[in-house]
Amino acid sequence: MNIPVHMSLIMDGNGRWAKDKGKERVHGHFEGVESVRACVEAAIETGVKYLSLYAFSEENWNRPQAEVDALMGLMIKAMAAEMPSLGRNGVRFMVIGNRERLAPELNEMIDSCMSSTAHNETLTLIVMLSYSGKWDILQAAKKMALEVHECPERLEEILEMDVNGFDRYLATAGIPDPDLIVRTSGECRLSNYFLWQGAYSELLFVDTLWPDFRKDEFRSAVEYYTKRDRRYGKVK
Ligand code: IPE
Ligand code: IPE
Ligand code: MG
Repeated sequence: MNIPVHMSLIMDGNGRWAKDKGKERVHGHFEGVESVRACVEAAIETGVKYLSLYAFSEENWNRPQAEVDALMGLMIKAMAAEMPSLGRNGVRFMVIGNRERLAPELNEMIDSCMSSTAHNETLTLIVMLSYSGKWDILQAAKKMALEVHECPERLEEILEMDVNGFDRYLATAGIPDPDLIVRTSGECRLSNYFLWQGAYSELLFVDTLWPDFRKDEFRSAVEYYTKRDRRYGKVK
Protein backbone atom coordinates (compact mmCIF):
# COMPACT_ATOMS: atom_id res chain seq x y z
CA MET A 1 0.00 0.00 0.00
CA ASN A 2 0.98 3.57 -0.64
CA ILE A 3 1.81 4.75 2.89
CA PRO A 4 3.13 8.29 3.47
CA VAL A 5 6.85 8.15 4.20
CA HIS A 6 6.65 11.45 6.05
CA MET A 7 3.41 12.35 7.76
CA SER A 8 3.03 15.65 9.54
CA LEU A 9 0.42 16.75 12.04
CA ILE A 10 -0.61 20.30 12.93
CA MET A 11 -1.90 19.58 16.41
CA ASP A 12 -4.61 22.22 16.84
CA GLY A 13 -7.67 22.62 19.02
CA ASN A 14 -6.42 21.89 22.54
CA GLY A 15 -7.85 25.12 23.93
CA ARG A 16 -11.29 24.55 22.40
CA TRP A 17 -11.30 20.95 23.64
CA ALA A 18 -10.71 22.18 27.20
CA LYS A 19 -13.26 24.98 26.88
CA ASP A 20 -15.92 22.52 25.68
CA LYS A 21 -15.35 20.62 28.91
CA GLY A 22 -15.39 23.74 31.08
CA LYS A 23 -11.69 23.39 31.88
CA GLU A 24 -8.60 25.60 31.58
CA ARG A 25 -6.77 25.57 28.24
CA VAL A 26 -3.81 23.77 29.76
CA HIS A 27 -5.94 20.64 30.32
CA GLY A 28 -6.29 20.43 26.56
CA HIS A 29 -2.53 20.51 26.20
CA PHE A 30 -2.15 17.74 28.82
CA GLU A 31 -4.68 15.56 27.03
CA GLY A 32 -2.96 16.32 23.74
CA VAL A 33 0.12 14.47 24.98
CA GLU A 34 -2.00 11.29 25.02
CA SER A 35 -2.82 11.87 21.36
CA VAL A 36 0.88 12.23 20.60
CA ARG A 37 1.54 8.86 22.27
CA ALA A 38 -1.27 7.22 20.29
CA CYS A 39 -0.10 8.71 16.98
CA VAL A 40 3.50 7.59 17.54
CA GLU A 41 2.26 4.04 18.13
CA ALA A 42 -0.02 4.20 15.09
CA ALA A 43 2.83 5.53 12.94
CA ILE A 44 5.02 2.58 13.94
CA GLU A 45 2.14 0.14 13.32
CA THR A 46 1.32 1.55 9.87
CA GLY A 47 4.93 1.84 8.72
CA VAL A 48 5.24 5.63 8.50
CA LYS A 49 8.99 6.41 8.69
CA TYR A 50 8.92 10.11 9.64
CA LEU A 51 6.30 11.70 11.87
CA SER A 52 6.59 15.44 12.41
CA LEU A 53 4.44 17.30 14.91
CA TYR A 54 3.85 21.05 14.89
CA ALA A 55 4.00 21.56 18.65
CA PHE A 56 4.80 25.26 19.02
CA SER A 57 5.11 27.94 16.38
CA GLU A 58 7.29 31.04 16.45
CA GLU A 59 4.01 32.98 16.72
CA ASN A 60 2.96 30.96 19.77
CA TRP A 61 5.60 32.87 21.78
CA ASN A 62 3.03 35.70 21.69
CA ARG A 63 0.59 33.77 23.88
CA PRO A 64 0.16 34.71 27.57
CA GLN A 65 3.38 33.94 29.47
CA ALA A 66 1.57 31.49 31.77
CA GLU A 67 0.46 29.38 28.80
CA VAL A 68 3.93 29.49 27.20
CA ASP A 69 5.45 28.39 30.52
CA ALA A 70 2.90 25.60 30.88
CA LEU A 71 3.61 24.34 27.35
CA MET A 72 7.38 24.39 27.85
CA GLY A 73 7.02 22.66 31.22
CA LEU A 74 4.81 20.05 29.62
CA MET A 75 7.40 19.47 26.93
CA ILE A 76 10.08 18.73 29.52
CA LYS A 77 7.75 16.45 31.51
CA ALA A 78 6.55 14.57 28.46
CA MET A 79 10.09 14.04 27.17
CA ALA A 80 11.25 12.70 30.52
CA ALA A 81 8.26 10.37 30.75
CA GLU A 82 8.23 9.10 27.17
CA MET A 83 11.89 8.81 26.27
CA PRO A 84 12.53 5.30 27.70
CA SER A 85 9.65 3.77 25.75
CA LEU A 86 10.49 5.72 22.58
CA GLY A 87 14.03 4.38 22.84
CA ARG A 88 12.78 0.81 23.34
CA ASN A 89 10.49 1.10 20.32
CA GLY A 90 13.24 2.18 17.96
CA VAL A 91 12.18 5.83 17.73
CA ARG A 92 14.76 8.43 16.75
CA PHE A 93 13.78 11.68 18.45
CA MET A 94 14.50 15.09 16.93
CA VAL A 95 13.54 18.67 17.62
CA ILE A 96 13.57 21.23 14.82
CA GLY A 97 13.01 24.96 15.26
CA ASN A 98 14.58 28.14 16.56
CA ARG A 99 16.27 26.57 19.56
CA GLU A 100 17.94 29.83 20.55
CA ARG A 101 14.64 30.87 22.07
CA LEU A 102 14.29 27.75 24.26
CA ALA A 103 15.33 27.65 27.92
CA PRO A 104 18.75 26.06 28.63
CA GLU A 105 17.14 23.29 30.69
CA LEU A 106 14.90 22.33 27.78
CA ASN A 107 17.75 22.50 25.28
CA GLU A 108 19.88 20.20 27.45
CA MET A 109 17.06 17.71 27.68
CA ILE A 110 16.51 17.82 23.92
CA ASP A 111 20.23 17.26 23.24
CA SER A 112 20.32 14.29 25.56
CA CYS A 113 17.17 12.72 24.05
CA MET A 114 18.41 13.30 20.52
CA SER A 115 21.80 11.75 21.16
CA SER A 116 20.47 8.76 23.12
CA THR A 117 18.06 7.82 20.30
CA ALA A 118 20.20 8.85 17.32
CA HIS A 119 20.89 5.24 16.29
CA ASN A 120 17.19 4.22 16.15
CA GLU A 121 15.65 3.47 12.77
CA THR A 122 12.03 2.34 13.10
CA LEU A 123 10.51 5.85 13.17
CA THR A 124 11.94 9.36 13.19
CA LEU A 125 9.77 11.53 15.44
CA ILE A 126 10.33 15.23 14.82
CA VAL A 127 8.90 17.77 17.22
CA MET A 128 8.67 21.15 15.53
CA LEU A 129 9.27 23.53 18.39
CA SER A 130 9.58 27.30 18.03
CA TYR A 131 9.33 26.61 14.31
CA SER A 132 7.92 28.58 11.45
CA GLY A 133 8.25 28.19 7.71
CA LYS A 134 9.37 31.78 7.15
CA TRP A 135 11.96 31.48 9.93
CA ASP A 136 13.31 28.33 8.30
CA ILE A 137 13.65 29.90 4.83
CA LEU A 138 15.23 33.02 6.33
CA GLN A 139 17.76 31.10 8.42
CA ALA A 140 18.69 29.11 5.29
CA ALA A 141 19.29 32.34 3.35
CA LYS A 142 21.39 33.74 6.21
CA LYS A 143 23.47 30.54 6.36
CA MET A 144 24.20 30.90 2.65
CA ALA A 145 25.15 34.58 3.03
CA LEU A 146 27.51 33.71 5.88
CA GLU A 147 29.04 30.90 3.87
CA VAL A 148 29.84 33.27 1.00
CA HIS A 149 31.15 35.87 3.43
CA GLU A 150 33.54 33.33 4.95
CA CYS A 151 34.41 31.62 1.70
CA PRO A 152 33.80 33.88 -1.36
CA GLU A 153 34.70 31.08 -3.79
CA ARG A 154 31.44 29.32 -2.76
CA LEU A 155 29.45 32.05 -4.55
CA GLU A 156 29.56 30.47 -7.98
CA GLU A 157 28.34 27.11 -6.67
CA ILE A 158 25.53 28.79 -4.75
CA LEU A 159 24.39 30.77 -7.78
CA GLU A 160 24.12 27.52 -9.73
CA MET A 161 22.28 25.72 -6.97
CA ASP A 162 18.89 24.10 -7.67
CA VAL A 163 16.02 23.60 -5.22
CA ASN A 164 17.57 20.40 -3.90
CA GLY A 165 20.70 22.36 -3.07
CA PHE A 166 18.61 24.86 -1.08
CA ASP A 167 17.01 21.97 0.86
CA ARG A 168 20.39 21.37 2.47
CA TYR A 169 20.31 24.76 4.19
CA LEU A 170 16.87 24.27 5.70
CA ALA A 171 16.45 23.15 9.29
CA THR A 172 14.88 19.97 7.88
CA ALA A 173 17.96 19.01 5.84
CA GLY A 174 18.09 15.25 5.37
CA ILE A 175 14.39 14.74 6.08
CA PRO A 176 12.14 13.98 3.10
CA ASP A 177 9.39 16.54 2.38
CA PRO A 178 6.07 15.74 4.08
CA ASP A 179 3.82 13.58 1.91
CA LEU A 180 0.77 14.36 3.98
CA ILE A 181 0.03 17.27 6.31
CA VAL A 182 -3.02 16.86 8.54
CA ARG A 183 -4.47 19.73 10.54
CA THR A 184 -6.99 19.10 13.28
CA SER A 185 -9.73 21.36 14.68
CA GLY A 186 -11.33 22.46 11.42
CA GLU A 187 -8.95 25.32 10.62
CA CYS A 188 -7.95 25.31 6.95
CA ARG A 189 -4.64 27.16 7.05
CA LEU A 190 -0.96 26.37 7.38
CA SER A 191 -0.17 28.94 10.10
CA ASN A 192 3.39 29.41 8.83
CA TYR A 193 4.20 25.69 8.78
CA PHE A 194 6.34 23.88 6.11
CA LEU A 195 6.06 26.69 3.53
CA TRP A 196 8.91 25.34 1.40
CA GLN A 197 8.78 21.65 2.24
CA GLY A 198 5.00 21.46 1.83
CA ALA A 199 5.06 22.58 -1.81
CA TYR A 200 3.60 19.25 -2.98
CA SER A 201 2.24 17.81 0.24
CA GLU A 202 -1.25 16.38 0.27
CA LEU A 203 -3.35 18.38 2.75
CA LEU A 204 -6.08 17.05 5.00
CA PHE A 205 -8.14 19.22 7.32
CA VAL A 206 -10.25 17.38 9.87
CA ASP A 207 -12.75 18.75 12.40
CA THR A 208 -11.53 16.53 15.25
CA LEU A 209 -9.85 18.52 18.02
CA TRP A 210 -6.28 17.39 18.72
CA PRO A 211 -6.96 15.73 22.12
CA ASP A 212 -9.54 13.51 20.36
CA PHE A 213 -7.22 12.59 17.47
CA ARG A 214 -6.18 9.03 18.31
CA LYS A 215 -5.24 5.84 16.46
CA ASP A 216 -8.47 5.51 14.46
CA GLU A 217 -8.21 9.11 13.24
CA PHE A 218 -4.55 8.58 12.37
CA ARG A 219 -5.37 5.45 10.39
CA SER A 220 -8.19 7.25 8.56
CA ALA A 221 -5.74 9.98 7.54
CA VAL A 222 -3.32 7.39 6.19
CA GLU A 223 -6.21 5.75 4.34
CA TYR A 224 -7.14 9.15 2.82
CA TYR A 225 -3.56 9.50 1.59
CA THR A 226 -3.55 6.09 -0.07
CA LYS A 227 -6.38 7.29 -2.35
CA ARG A 228 -4.62 10.46 -3.56
CA ASP A 229 -3.28 10.73 -7.06
CA ARG A 230 -0.10 12.81 -6.89
CA ARG A 231 0.66 14.32 -10.28
CA TYR A 232 3.38 16.91 -9.56
CA GLY A 233 2.17 19.06 -12.43
CA LYS A 234 2.43 16.28 -15.00
CA VAL A 235 -0.31 14.62 -17.03
CA LYS A 236 -1.07 11.06 -16.02
C1 IPE B 1 -2.77 23.66 19.74
O1 IPE B 1 -3.96 23.98 20.39
C2 IPE B 1 -1.57 23.78 20.65
C3 IPE B 1 -0.64 24.85 20.29
C4 IPE B 1 -0.77 25.67 19.28
C5 IPE B 1 0.52 25.01 21.14
P1 IPE B 1 -4.40 25.48 20.64
O2 IPE B 1 -3.82 25.91 21.95
O3 IPE B 1 -4.06 26.34 19.49
O4 IPE B 1 -5.96 25.31 20.78
P2 IPE B 1 -7.08 26.25 20.17
O5 IPE B 1 -6.79 26.40 18.72
O6 IPE B 1 -7.00 27.54 20.91
O7 IPE B 1 -8.35 25.51 20.43
C1 IPE C 1 -0.75 26.37 14.79
O1 IPE C 1 -1.79 26.51 15.70
C2 IPE C 1 0.51 26.03 15.51
C3 IPE C 1 0.53 24.74 16.17
C4 IPE C 1 -0.37 23.82 16.11
C5 IPE C 1 1.71 24.51 16.96
P1 IPE C 1 -2.28 27.94 16.19
O2 IPE C 1 -3.46 27.70 17.06
O3 IPE C 1 -1.15 28.67 16.80
O4 IPE C 1 -2.66 28.65 14.82
P2 IPE C 1 -3.61 29.87 14.50
O5 IPE C 1 -3.20 30.98 15.43
O6 IPE C 1 -5.01 29.44 14.76
O7 IPE C 1 -3.38 30.17 13.07
MG1 MG D 1 -5.05 26.85 17.80
